[in-house]
Amino acid sequence: MTVHSFQEHFDEKIDNEVSIEPRDWMPDDYRKTLIRQISQHAHSEIVGMLPEGNWITRAPSLRRKAVLLAKVQDEGGHGLYLYSAAETLGITRDEMIEQLHSGKAKYSSIFNYPTLTWADMGAIGWLVDGAAIMNQVPLCRTSYGPYARAMVRVCKEESFHQRQGFEIMMTLANGTEVQKKLAQDALNRWWWPSIMMFGPPDDDSPNTAQSMRWRIKRFTNDELRQKFIDVTVEQAKLIGLTVPDPDLKWNEETGHYDYGKINWDEFWNVVKGNGPCNKERLETRRKAWEEGKWVRDAALAYAEKRKARKEKATLAA
Ligand code: 3HC
Repeated sequence: MTVHSFQEHFDEKIDNEVSIEPRDWMPDDYRKTLIRQISQHAHSEIVGMLPEGNWITRAPSLRRKAVLLAKVQDEGGHGLYLYSAAETLGITRDEMIEQLHSGKAKYSSIFNYPTLTWADMGAIGWLVDGAAIMNQVPLCRTSYGPYARAMVRVCKEESFHQRQGFEIMMTLANGTEVQKKLAQDALNRWWWPSIMMFGPPDDDSPNTAQSMRWRIKRFTNDELRQKFIDVTVEQAKLIGLTVPDPDLKWNEETGHYDYGKINWDEFWNVVKGNGPCNKERLETRRKAWEEGKWVRDAALAYAEKRKARKEKATLAA
């Protein structure tokens, strides 16, 4: 088969919604953009554990603590599925970790904001996991098989994450005046960074058009952002909270909410590493990686020993 027909065969599979699998021929750029997106997605899950981990010891009740603990553990699992999916494309775990720790790789901007009160746990579950669901459900149909399959499991757990967050916000919003203020303050601080999570506007996105053609993405950044805003504004109304956007207005013609200007300077500033918590997040990850070296060494030594024992037993048999 010539490269030309390999390309034709690949294009045909994409057009016919046939999953691309690790052993299939794929264009180098397709492989490269998948490694970029999946590894950064994995980094986001792992770094995303930090803002919430900060509140596990300070949860207001045993139930809230148990739920938050379960959620943070889930995020660690999501990271592992995604690192494994990225490894099927030929990059090693160590390479990906090095890219994160050196600042070469990105992770979601949203995790560079501080979690100041317990209400932030509600806002993160409701808004950040809500945005993640909006973005990840279509990824269950992404053209790369291992990524799509990882997303199915992730999305099931994200629904629980979003639900528990919304419940925290609902409880606070229906509580005392002080609690309602906490919830509104958290919404004020997390609303705009959450809608930035979907990425730059489509006209400013160097990757979206090609990712749509390759069916890596099923919707563009702006389409998913709009879907998220339309759903979430109604949820805020339900619990008596006000979305901090004076230009938010239902547009009968389009059947969507019009919304105010997003501060893309803030977004790119955070993406470039100058957000409120970027340095702290990377330092914490580097420290955890160093402190966890003995666990990795012990597991590798045990695996080597088991392999040697198995080989010896095979020779003796
Ligand atoms: N934070 C940091 N960087 C971002 C970003 C964000 N919110 N949005 C976009 N960028 C980066 C892109 O990575 C790209 O840089 P690169 O080429 O160096 O990788 C650049 O800005 C231009 O953006 P594009 O829109 O052209 O890039 P993509 O086509 O990759 O779209 C994306 C960006 C929508 C985030 C896409 O990569 C994606 O859907 N990724 C998978 C989902 C994901 O990573 N979600 C992150 C949150 S995970 C999470 O929330 C966990 C949950 O459990 C809480």
